[in-house]
Amino acid sequence: MYFYLGVNKSNMSKIIAIANQKGGVGKTTTSINLADALGILEKKVLLIDLDPQANATSGVGVESDHIKLSSLNLFDKKPLTKNCIISLENSLFDFIPATISLAAAEMAHTSSIDLFSLKKALYQIDDLYDYILIDCSPSFGLITLNALTAANSVIIPVQCEFYAMEGLSKLLRSIKSIRKSSNPNIDIEGLLITMFDSRLKISNQLKDELTKHFGTMVFESVIHRNVKLSEAPSYGMSILKYNLNSIGAENYLNLGTEIVNKNDMENEESGLGKDLAKILDQNTEDVDYILNLSKLKNNKSTQPKDDNDYSHLIGLKKNQINDVLGFSYNDPHSNTWMYRTTKSFSLIKKNYLYLHFEDNKIKDYKLTTFKMNTP
Ligand SMILES: Nc1ncnc2c1ncn2[C@@H]1O[C@H](COP(=O)(O)OP(=O)(O)O)[C@@H](O)[C@H]1O
Ligand SMILES: [Mg+2]
Repeated sequence: MYFYLGVNKSNMSKIIAIANQKGGVGKTTTSINLADALGILEKKVLLIDLDPQANATSGVGVESDHIKLSSLNLFDKKPLTKNCIISLENSLFDFIPATISLAAAEMAHTSSIDLFSLKKALYQIDDLYDYILIDCSPSFGLITLNALTAANSVIIPVQCEFYAMEGLSKLLRSIKSIRKSSNPNIDIEGLLITMFDSRLKISNQLKDELTKHFGTMVFESVIHRNVKLSEAPSYGMSILKYNLNSIGAENYLNLGTEIVNKNDMENEESGLGKDLAKILDQNTEDVDYILNLSKLKNNKSTQPKDDNDYSHLIGLKKNQINDVLGFSYNDPHSNTWMYRTTKSFSLIKKNYLYLHFEDNKIKDYKLTTFKMNTP
C-alpha cells in the first residue's frame, strides 16, 4: 500500500526507478527485460524511457520519427499522461518513449519543471499498472531526480568490474539526499549484479563484497554476461522474445519472480531498506545542490530580478553548470567558461556570459555583447 499527498488509493502502482550514475552498467537492458518478464508473470507493466539517449526506445523497436508524445510531455504544465502511453506489438508491457529533446528540459531558465512534476504526472495513471519502471539516464540532473522523487524504490544495476563499488557509494549518497528531501520513503528494491562472468575472479570478488556490505539488499538473481542480451535490442525485442532459451532470459525471469514474490509478500517485513540509514552516512553535496536549486526556482522572491542577473550561479561547481544552463562545449580544465545567452539572439549582436572559476567553483561572472562589423 502506498500513499500520496495523504490520499489512500487501492491498487496503486509500484514505481521503480532503474538508476546508476555510471553508464553502460545494464540499466536499459534491465528495464526492458524486467518489464517483459513481469509481463509474462501476468503483471500490468508500464516502462518509461527517461533517458534522452533513448536507448530503451530504440531497444523496443520504436522509431523516433513515429513518436508524437514522449516522456518529455510528462513534464508539460498540464500533462496528459495517458496520451503519452503507447502499446507495443512485440511486448507484454506498455511504453512511454523518449526523444533527445528530453535533454533540453533540464535547462532551468526555460522550463517550469520542479522536482515533483513527474510524480504528479504519474499520479494520473497509477491505478492502471502493477509496476511502473523508469529507465533513468546516468546524469543525476533534474529529470533523474524527478524519477527518484516519484519512485517507491530503486533498482541499482552493478556491473561486475573493478570500479563498481566506487560508483555505488556515490549513488547511495544521492539516494540518501533524496530521502532527506523530496522522497523520505524511497527504498532500495535491490542491487542487481549484471554482466557476471563466473570465469573472472573480479566477478566472484564483487559478488562477495556486495553481499558482505549490503546483505539482503543484493538480489539473489544475478544477470550473467550473455551475448544474446546485447543482440536483442538491435531487433527491437526483449530477450524473452529474441531467445527464450538463453541464460539472459532465464536470469531476467528469475529477477522478475524474485521481485514479484518480495512485493506480494508485502514489503514491510522483508527488512529491505532498514539498514539504509546506517549505510548512507556520508556527505551528499552534489545532489543537495540540485535539490536546493529546484527550491530556489520555485520560490519567486529568490529568482533573479532581471535577465542579466546571474548571481544565483555563484558557488556552483563545474559539473553542476550543465544542469543549470544546458550542455556546452567548454573545456573542463579552463577556469573561464562562456555561454551564449539565448534570450537576445541576433545575427549582428551576440550576448555572452563569462563564468570565472576559482577552486572549481564559480567566483564571478560577466556579461558581454559582441557586435559584428557590418559593412
Ligand atoms: N548481461 C549482459 N551481457 C552482455 N551484454 C550486456 C549485458 N547487459 C548489458 N549489456 C550490453 O552492455 C551495454 C550497456 O548496457 P545498457 O543496458 O545500455 O547500460 P546503461 O543503460 O546502464 O547505459 C549494451 O550494449 C548492452 O547490450
Ligand atoms: Mg541506458
